[in-house]
Amino acid sequence: MYGYCKECSRAKGEKKEMRRIIIIGYMGAGKTTVGKALSKQLNMPFYDLDWYIESRMRKTVKEIFDERGEEGFRIIEHNLLHEVAEFEDVIISCGGGVPCFYDNMEYMNQQGETVYLKATPEVLYGHLKMGKSVRPLLENKTQEEVKDFINEQLKIREPYYNKAKYILDVNLMDDYDKIRIFVTKLRDLLAL
Ligand code: S3P
Repeated sequence: MYGYCKECSRAKGEKKEMRRIIIIGYMGAGKTTVGKALSKQLNMPFYDLDWYIESRMRKTVKEIFDERGEEGFRIIEHNLLHEVAEFEDVIISCGGGVPCFYDNMEYMNQQGETVYLKATPEVLYGHLKMGKSVRPLLENKTQEEVKDFINEQLKIREPYYNKAKYILDVNLMDDYDKIRIFVTKLRDLLAL
């Protein structure tokens, strides 16, 4: 041993451990917001899989849904997940459906430290109502229908989400000031 990294006390020349953090959870859980904030704090590049899909395909997620249907979107999503989840030392946030198709959840667990941002259907509904973007799966639905849809879909999706290596309850992350607190909790959880 001939020296130390001052920041991490690793021996100089010793290979740095690669970290790849993958954030999952239902629409409206705050995956992109938390991912971005964590990336800023840790100075690690951030990839949002939906944005990555849009830039690679030169189309919005909505356009892909409209042109190819959900099935076509899921194939693209699966293929491009395999691109981003090969990048090293990155933070990735994934669309809410990713863990529930193909072997995506097993693959993500193999590739990195998966974190499920867990919230109740009521909290998710509240966030989605406040948010600006309309998700293709929620389009043309009344508020009541959206509520029922979230309830039903969460029951189906939770068993997949629960396979994540870490679970962070984000029910109390109800305004921007609280994001820092939750990012700190996440860093504790991941020992980062
Ligand atoms: C989806 C979630 C969306 C997007 C697409 C489908 C889903 O991403 O991938 O509209 O099936 O839950 P967000 O979870 O980032 O909204």
